[in-house]
Amino acid sequence: MGERKGLILIGAPGSGKGTQAKRLQEQLGWAHISTGDLLRAAVAAGSELGVRAKGFMDAGGLVPDALVIDLLLEALAAPAAAKGFILDGFPRTMPQAEALDAAVSIDKVIDLQVPFSLIEERITGRRMSPSGHVYHVKYSPPKVEGICDVTGEALYQRSDDTPDKVRERLAKFEAETRPVIARYQSKGIVVAVDGVGDPDEVYARIAAVL
Ligand code: AP5
Repeated sequence: MGERKGLILIGAPGSGKGTQAKRLQEQLGWAHISTGDLLRAAVAAGSELGVRAKGFMDAGGLVPDALVIDLLLEALAAPAAAKGFILDGFPRTMPQAEALDAAVSIDKVIDLQVPFSLIEERITGRRMSPSGHVYHVKYSPPKVEGICDVTGEALYQRSDDTPDKVRERLAKFEAETRPVIARYQSKGIVVAVDGVGDPDEVYARIAAVL
């Protein structure tokens, strides 16, 4: 078996990382590792990690590095990630990037670019099913309002998907995650991709640079 492939999808909250990572997972057969999804699952399960993470997440802040790094390293060690992995929402801080680089090699970083003026509408219009299917009330609505097409479950809105939390999350992105992009730019592995447009168009742009 060849060396496993590592891809990072980085971008502001609501830039479409999760949407694109799911498509890449289907196409490439690599694991989609979203620290946001893993943390939400921990909160829903009421685990010790979930209890510790919840307050940070609800406030639009970042969960402490030590907790997230452990979670990520565990996911990377799973058999599902043996062929390759797509990281969505990690690394978000310099200590996270350093821990990641010490553990695995990264082939490419896709910097998904969406203007902040479009972000609030994307995030406040997002609806989720408990199984993780993602909709948008305007851009990708379910067939029946409020009901997941796939599972029939009632859709909900994330507690951090409100305008004031979005502003807080964007501020964290600027302060903590911009330097991470610069770190990988200096290694020459960052490709900027325009994240504006239909999800299929955005996917085609990503596929073209892989
Ligand atoms: P996380 O879940 O990672 O949130 P995020 O980075 O804020 O990203 P989002 O999930 O909001 O957006 P996305 O880019 O995936 O967009 P999506 O595809 O859903 O993290 C949540 C929280 O967990 C953090 O705030 C933090 O507290 C904690 N956390 C997670 N990782 C951490 C870490 N490493 N360190 C510390 N703390 C961490 O799209 C958004 C909406 O737009 C959807 O409705 C979608 O349908 C729609 N959409 C997508 N693409 C398009 C398009 N092309 N056109 C129109 N609409 C679109």
